[in-house]
Amino acid sequence: MLDRITGFFRICLLAIVVFQTQIAFAQNITVQVDKPGAAIPKTLFGLFFEDINFGADGGLYPERIKNRSFEFPNPMMGWKEFERGNTKGQLYIFDHGSINNTANSHYLRIKAPAGGTAFGVTNEGFRGIGVEKGADFTFSMTARRIGPATPTLRVELQDGDRLLCQTHFGVASTEWKTYTVTLRSTETSSKARLNLMIEGDGTVDVDMLSLFPKDTFQNRSNGLRKDLVTLLKDMKPGFLRFPGGCIVEGRYLEQRYQWKTTIGDLDERRLIINRWNTEFHWRPTPDYYQSFGLGYYEYFLLSEDIGAEPLPILNCGMACQFNSSELAPLEDLDHYIQDAIDLIEFANAPANTEWGRKRAAMGHPKPFNLKMIGIGNEQWGPQYVERYEVFAKVLKQKYPNIALVSSAGPAPEGERFDFLWEKMRELKADLIDEHYYMEPKWFRNNAGRYDDYPRSGPKVFAGEYAAQSVAIASPDNRNNWECALSEAAFITGLERNADVVQMSSYAPLFGHVDAWQWTPNMIWFDNLRSYGTPNYYVQKMFSVNQGTKLLPVLLDGSAKNGQGELYSSASLDERTGEVIVKVVNTASAAKEVRVNLAGASRFGPSAKAFVLQSTDLKAENSLDNPTRIAPVERQVSISSGEFAYTLTPQSFTVLRISLKS
Ligand code: AHR
Repeated sequence: MLDRITGFFRICLLAIVVFQTQIAFAQNITVQVDKPGAAIPKTLFGLFFEDINFGADGGLYPERIKNRSFEFPNPMMGWKEFERGNTKGQLYIFDHGSINNTANSHYLRIKAPAGGTAFGVTNEGFRGIGVEKGADFTFSMTARRIGPATPTLRVELQDGDRLLCQTHFGVASTEWKTYTVTLRSTETSSKARLNLMIEGDGTVDVDMLSLFPKDTFQNRSNGLRKDLVTLLKDMKPGFLRFPGGCIVEGRYLEQRYQWKTTIGDLDERRLIINRWNTEFHWRPTPDYYQSFGLGYYEYFLLSEDIGAEPLPILNCGMACQFNSSELAPLEDLDHYIQDAIDLIEFANAPANTEWGRKRAAMGHPKPFNLKMIGIGNEQWGPQYVERYEVFAKVLKQKYPNIALVSSAGPAPEGERFDFLWEKMRELKADLIDEHYYMEPKWFRNNAGRYDDYPRSGPKVFAGEYAAQSVAIASPDNRNNWECALSEAAFITGLERNADVVQMSSYAPLFGHVDAWQWTPNMIWFDNLRSYGTPNYYVQKMFSVNQGTKLLPVLLDGSAKNGQGELYSSASLDERTGEVIVKVVNTASAAKEVRVNLAGASRFGPSAKAFVLQSTDLKAENSLDNPTRIAPVERQVSISSGEFAYTLTPQSFTVLRISLKS
């Protein structure tokens, strides 16, 4: 009997030891609810847009016709002669006499012979033309008849041998006129082409051809691709940075992005080469140009539509330092500075001023309320500092309330970085744009990067970052879960330090699966479909669960992030009365944690958990499996201000706990 009792106690003792061991291994997350800190800027999580990877033409800008006005250096790029019934006609490109001789001087003449069936051209679109069954598209073009008879034009969409739709119209006028018809496809295709031909004989001049979906975001004419904008809007982004990126700089100054040539009527916008056309010899994209159908006006409108503060980045008189490093002489910066002034006027001046009038004429009499601009993109060296100083002097005097974003160079550390920070501090810069394209481990190791940053002086804009699974600019980089999870760990550090880090954005934003130059990207698409990567969902989870005030978080009593492979940040949402706790577990094992809402007198009884997770660090989303890694919502019951929670392996969890009941 005694033996039995002793045995029983032994088992109890063992159980206590095991239990205590488990408790000892559980980590404590203490959220100091009673010690709210700095307000979290609404701009903390935003978007970086650049026309790279067919991000604008062929992507967000849903024009289906490539080289629609024959302005590519090879005016027939994207176009081919097309005939039916062995009809031999002629095609001519003219370089003057078009509707707009400055920006858009080229046009095409189609001459079909008498007695033929049909002759004309076919356009290949942007790696094909995407059309959905039953959806309406507007086909339009400017045209004039040459010769005595009114030619009949036939326009059709075709995929392989299958005719998807067709219609006819006559070109009666000998003056340039716009002709518009609606096309509705009987099938869905992402690889269609557009044929335009004269039936019978006749001659026409054609220009500014367009095939545009009627169903754009908010049904805007010359609007943007709905699925892509919806993905952006769903993130509730705090700001939209545009148009880049290196595209701002150009390989040479002559090819820099000049906003004034991107506004007004479409035929007034002057096409230029896209710098990514020739950047990587292993990803050549000879048909990559900027038509500017998506220009500065549309960027402002997009910012407004998705509720984001616009952040235009302007050239500061420096071409890309990875390319030509061409400089505008310091004494010749006036033109560049005037561009910045005029842009601020275009965005903000009343509708009865010179630039306000141009904005109003495009459809937006109300100002866009621009609050910040960037001076240069990823510039470095004393040449940048000199130029920034000249810009800042003029702009700060004229627009003291416009915040200026300045560069910290292309890397997150090193001589260039230190030099710029020192100089920008001296110059009392507002926001410094840091870029990190680093390996996943760097992101995990740098979750505490901003803990010790000075609390006074310039604020940080983490303006471009993404974990690179192989190496920067490697075509083998993947948008896999390891990268996204590492970014999540790092972003807890951005959020914890939101008093210093005022803005952040993943880069680049978009990639066309058949036409990209750079990877990884946050959102991938083809001509019809799109998906958010795991990195997208990480961004979105932070952004839509932002909170209004920082709350200090302690991991096992320490404010240091990354202990035991856990990373955490927390905030209070004063609008909803919730505590929001974000926890990243980078360990391959599940983790028991005890969450302590220190100082909270009311809570729960239930909370919501949003969990993004995969046990496979190589896992990715794809067009066919777009939400393989996507947040899953769970209910968590809470009976006290201290509760246990199990973090799944390799997961990012957002807990939203109501403080109301
Ligand atoms: O995001 C791609 C490129 O990376 C950007 O254009 C540039 O700013 C950075 O080097």
